Amino acid sequence: VASREDALAVIDPNSYADWDKALDTFDRLRRDTPVVRIDSPDGEFDSFWLLTRYEDAMRVSKDNAHFLNAPRPSVFTSKQGEEFARQITRAQGDESPNLVSSLVALDAPKHPQLRRLTQEWFMPKNLRTIEAAVRELAAKTADRFVAAGPEADFVPLVAAPYPLHVVMQILGVPEEDEPRMLFLTQQMFGGQDEELNKSGLANLSPEQIFQIVTGAVADFEAYFEGLAAQRREHPTTDVATLLANADISARDRAGYYIIVAAAGHDTTSASTAGAMLALARDPEQFAKVKADRSLVPGIVEEAIRWTTPVQHFMRTATEDTQIGDVTIKAGDWLMINYVAANHDPAQFDNPRKFDATREANRHIAFGAGAHQCLGLHLARLEMRLLFEALLDRIDSVELAGEPRRAKSTFVGGLKTLPLRFSAC
Ligand code: HEM
Repeated sequence: VASREDALAVIDPNSYADWDKALDTFDRLRRDTPVVRIDSPDGEFDSFWLLTRYEDAMRVSKDNAHFLNAPRPSVFTSKQGEEFARQITRAQGDESPNLVSSLVALDAPKHPQLRRLTQEWFMPKNLRTIEAAVRELAAKTADRFVAAGPEADFVPLVAAPYPLHVVMQILGVPEEDEPRMLFLTQQMFGGQDEELNKSGLANLSPEQIFQIVTGAVADFEAYFEGLAAQRREHPTTDVATLLANADISARDRAGYYIIVAAAGHDTTSASTAGAMLALARDPEQFAKVKADRSLVPGIVEEAIRWTTPVQHFMRTATEDTQIGDVTIKAGDWLMINYVAANHDPAQFDNPRKFDATREANRHIAFGAGAHQCLGLHLARLEMRLLFEALLDRIDSVELAGEPRRAKSTFVGGLKTLPLRFSAC
């Protein structure tokens, strides 16, 4: 069992804000107790096993028969959050609106049936059909950034709005409705960490949070049923049209929209900001990639490993099994910690170094197995096009202040990145 201090380091949102300290804790746990039980110091959540080795994270992620995503794919870190998660889980059995009829909280046979509906759409071949539109958006975003110079915060101007806009476009949400959709997704994830406070939910009871969250889900569902009706009448080639014409229930359709909308922006935003941070700290690397654009994909891939925006997902074991020295019992809950796995020195030389020339950068930031990120090719495409556009417009860049990290155990990354730069 991990010490109280280590347990807090893993589940306290504040602890990820001090990144090096969090990595130190993972290094120590990986060395001494690579599979360790985390007990909630205040009984706020059920105990789980923390995995810090890359090879264990890979094995569990790929074994979808013995390690299930449902019913609780992520751990909540506040009392309200955990109680809210329990209520959502209870509501799963009936027709109450719930968050969890989404890909990431489903297992076979329903998971592959739903995933198949959009799998091809998200493959590189199809993404070529949206490349010109994404490139145009990247150019506009880069222009706006340069116009705000010579000093500007990269996160609110570039890293946050750009991926949000792309994901809303592919879901068919018109620009004027984007703020409403963003607000609803924040409310739906109201039980989570920093967002809890942002949505003003921190002081409410679990019942009140449950009402707000399920209300947001119902609004979302109604909105997308309207949009689906429009797409059935006037089909296009977007994801919205695919889902509109799929033979699935309104709840499954809403769950699908929700997971794509929610998974598609904060994640890409965090690794985009991480890539820019690495370039701002290393003028030599910036000069190299500016002179040779074939290095951009390496920068993108390393930024995704180095930042590991999705910090964990949970699994539930279906039968007794051995991981390292530990026997996991059927029904036990496990945390795949992607941050720890992506900083495992057994897999990555000098893991804390940002090294865009890493050979075979087989990181696990996108997960692995049946639930591996559906949007991974889109995330890479978005980032590549954005950095090409930025490198066309900027000659040099450096930090203009200390960046601030998100306080979250789930999706992390930078919330501010003050930069000073010179335009070409
Ligand atoms: C699943 C990370 C971008 C949509 C996942 C999972 C991870 C992840 C770790 C696996 C969950 C599991 O194994 O249980 C990331 C990172 C991103 C990113 C690091 C950016 C750098 C995107 C984008 C989209 C997206 C751009 C869509 C527009 C999804 C969906 C799933 C998922 C729908 C659920 C897949 C399933 O359960 O079958 N992502 N993601 N993600 N991601 Fe991403």
